[in-house]
Amino acid sequence: MPKMRAVQVPHAGGPLEIVERDIPEPGPGQVRLKVQACGVCHSDSLTKEGHMPGIMYPRVPGHEVVGIVDAVGAGVAGWKPGQQAGVGWNGGYCGYCDNCRRGDFFACTTATYITGVTSDGGYAEYMIARAEAVARLPEGLSPVEAAPLMCAGVTTYNCLRNTGARPGELVAVLGLGGLGHLGVQYAAKMGFKTVAIARGQDKAALATQLGASQYIDSRAQDPAKELQKLGGAKVILATVTAGDAMAAVVGGLGVRGTLMVVGAAMSMQIAPIQLLGGCTAIKGWYSGTSIDSQDTLAFSLQTGVRSMNEVFPLDRASEGYERMMSGDARFRVVLSVA
Ligand SMILES: NC(=O)c1ccc[n+]([C@@H]2O[C@H](COP(=O)([O-])OP(=O)(O)OC[C@H]3O[C@@H](n4cnc5c(N)ncnc54)[C@H](OP(=O)(O)O)[C@@H]3O)[C@@H](O)[C@H]2O)c1
Ligand SMILES: [Zn+2]
Repeated sequence: MPKMRAVQVPHAGGPLEIVERDIPEPGPGQVRLKVQACGVCHSDSLTKEGHMPGIMYPRVPGHEVVGIVDAVGAGVAGWKPGQQAGVGWNGGYCGYCDNCRRGDFFACTTATYITGVTSDGGYAEYMIARAEAVARLPEGLSPVEAAPLMCAGVTTYNCLRNTGARPGELVAVLGLGGLGHLGVQYAAKMGFKTVAIARGQDKAALATQLGASQYIDSRAQDPAKELQKLGGAKVILATVTAGDAMAAVVGGLGVRGTLMVVGAAMSMQIAPIQLLGGCTAIKGWYSGTSIDSQDTLAFSLQTGVRSMNEVFPLDRASEGYERMMSGDARFRVVLSVA
């Protein structure tokens, strides 16, 4: 049996360990990717620490995957060996639940297939993906450039394009990490008046480079008051991991503004009365389907949005993961696999 290198979590809370495994064979409806690059997303901590229900260990994390299709299972149409492809958090759709039969694939996937959570992900030389979860890669993006777009990219792009905000309106992006630094770029390219909010002054110049017209240092200023001085935000894209940081900006929403929550914070405390006067809303968002990923790749290529990456080899996945968790990465850690 041919072997591959993979980086797995042996049990919830366990270390990332490099192991040798059999190269998996694709089953019906599946393709095998020879992985080229995989981004390291903060959501990989959910797999590493066991913060999602029902994870079977050992588990290989990684859901920002770009690779070459090198084998296809029975019944797969539309994919053949040699094609370049990407897969994100959304690991596929069952096709038969009520939501799928209604055409709402977005609603199926949250409950069924999650790359790197319910099946092994891209911290490995090969991985298996369901054919419907795989996105086509356009020419013009390297694997390392494209990988972060499969989660950090599609999550922020797809969220922003579904908010109803119109060009010229005020959109704030809270947090400048892997997701946030892409969110600022997408918001600016979509024509929003874009404000970046992060902790400290060290990211101020970068925020401007990424397209923000204004930077708010949440340590030195009250971000809600600063947003109100600008007229109030139509949308605040909350990419941070901390609920208290999200709560601190709710007061910066304008009339009928929405706090779009993409950061997987475990709690957030706000006074509901704060929402009444301005009819404001708080809404969650998860990344998107493989078609949303294709749209993200196309938009990024067209407008020049790119992830700023720090590249680590697969053998140093654990170091790369710690770098991402430390908050010091500028801005995405990507594992270069082949
Ligand atoms: N909804 C989805 O589909 C989806 C998809 C991908 C990721 N996520 C989630 O989105 C979040 C961000 O992921 P990422 O990969 O971008 O993470 P990341 O690169 O590690 O960035 C983390 C961000 O959180 C901020 N942060 C951390 N601790 C904070 C604190 N105590 N107070 C205020 N801000 C704090 C940092 O803010 P500064 O910039 O101020 O340092 C940074 O911007 C994670 O929770 C992840 O699980 C959700
Ligand atoms: Zn992710």
